[in-house]
Amino acid sequence: MENGTPLPHHRPQWKSHIGFLLAAIGSAVGLGNIWRFPYLCYKNGGGAFLIPYGVALLVVGIPLMILEIGLGHKMRGSAPASFASVSRKWEWLGWWQVIFVMFGIVLYYSVVVSWCVNFFFYSFDLRWAPDPNAFFFQEYLMVSEGPFALGDLRTPMIGALLAVWGVSWLIVFKGVEKGLERANKVFMPLLLILTVAIVAWSARLPGAKEGVLSFYLRPDFSRLGDIGVWMDAFGQIFFTLSIGFGIMIAYSSYLPRKSEIVRDSITITLFNAAFSFLAGIGVFSVLGYMARTTGKPFEAVVDQSIGLAFVAYPKAISMLPGFEKLFGAIFFGILVIAGLSSAISILEAFASAIIDKFHYPRKTVVSILSGLGFLGSMIFATRAGIHLLDIADHFITQYGLVVGAIFECVLVGWILKAVKLRGHLNHSCRWKLPAVWDFSVKIVAPGILGALLLSSLTKELADPYGGYSWTAIILVGRDWLLYTLFAAVLVASHSWKTEPRSRMRRKNEDE
Ligand code: TRP
Repeated sequence: MENGTPLPHHRPQWKSHIGFLLAAIGSAVGLGNIWRFPYLCYKNGGGAFLIPYGVALLVVGIPLMILEIGLGHKMRGSAPASFASVSRKWEWLGWWQVIFVMFGIVLYYSVVVSWCVNFFFYSFDLRWAPDPNAFFFQEYLMVSEGPFALGDLRTPMIGALLAVWGVSWLIVFKGVEKGLERANKVFMPLLLILTVAIVAWSARLPGAKEGVLSFYLRPDFSRLGDIGVWMDAFGQIFFTLSIGFGIMIAYSSYLPRKSEIVRDSITITLFNAAFSFLAGIGVFSVLGYMARTTGKPFEAVVDQSIGLAFVAYPKAISMLPGFEKLFGAIFFGILVIAGLSSAISILEAFASAIIDKFHYPRKTVVSILSGLGFLGSMIFATRAGIHLLDIADHFITQYGLVVGAIFECVLVGWILKAVKLRGHLNHSCRWKLPAVWDFSVKIVAPGILGALLLSSLTKELADPYGGYSWTAIILVGRDWLLYTLFAAVLVASHSWKTEPRSRMRRKNEDE
């Protein structure tokens, strides 16, 4: 049967090690680092939040990053192909992850990136002044009264969205080396330079120090007793590191045999955390400056998470003592670059899954996917967009990513056996993985995630999320996960052009 089918395509490879590293960092560093992380710190006990964040990083972030990068490297396939190589019965898990990210997270994520594109242009005439709150919610989003009052499409957003999907298409269409690697080699240094510049600029404003030390970082250890704080920390770790997305598995499948998986996983994880921390200093310096200038208490100038970037921050930008338009353009430019380099990573991960299984040509797959992605994101560009985004984001990130990760731990830890993957890694890398990793993948990570999941489910059932109606929560939150799961099972039941195990064997023989 399939065993005899010759391989119709050659697996692409990163041209350089730094190319892989920059692409993985590009996927990890995104909107989540620049405005979600600082806001979470502020909301969850300031500097004290670094404790649950650090714990989540150590017990789940690093071990799972090693698991995903290691698995993709060993199996040399996208998430569904890699899981199917462990056991055909688990292929659905890989499909589920890439489907709910491609037809879930990235649909609204690309809309938020398109807001950033619009705000980049609005910076040049500070269009949000004098009332950024009214500008954002009433004039720009024209928010409707509830998730089912779709209203019409917001035209300024559609143009920006077209640009976001157009650029993503172009990059992924060109392939791993000529597209993703090249783009990230420009994006990442640029992102870093602009961020350092803007943080240095912000930190010198009057009131900056107070914003950072007294509000961003001042620890309130009493908050550590709140389970919600811990859930936020673990949820953020998944989202920010792109784990549970099937992305790191695909990216590492393009690595050469001799690779430094353990060292790279740690580098990516720590760089991502450092970037978040730095972004927080920038954000809170500016808010501190605004609090000082307006003479208002700090609590009055800080807003809800989305409002932080699109209301509080623009307001602060208008008040800067000089070059405020340039500052605004750089800030939103940074968000666009960070967002784009994350969005393209799922396009690649999904395309690679389809190519592995069905052997369709890459260019066709990427073009169709980008078109579908653009069309699908329209739902979030309606006047109900922000409500739908809020519900979809809560359920997909809180439950989809976490449930997927628990299954990943079971699959790799118990079915493939953690010791086997560790053996593979210790064979290919100079940095050796200690045996405690097995324990964390088999017991600690799934145990903690399972406990958190149960406690958040209980909370969920007691009280509808965000005050939305149960109908909205069921139709948008729960069903999004269920339909994508159904689609995943369906795709997984389709037969392979080349069976995953034999694909692997042949590739290893090729060398
Ligand atoms: N890590 C990104 C962030 O923190 C999120 C992200 C990574 C993402 N890959 C993605 C979002 C793919 C959408 C699609 O912002």
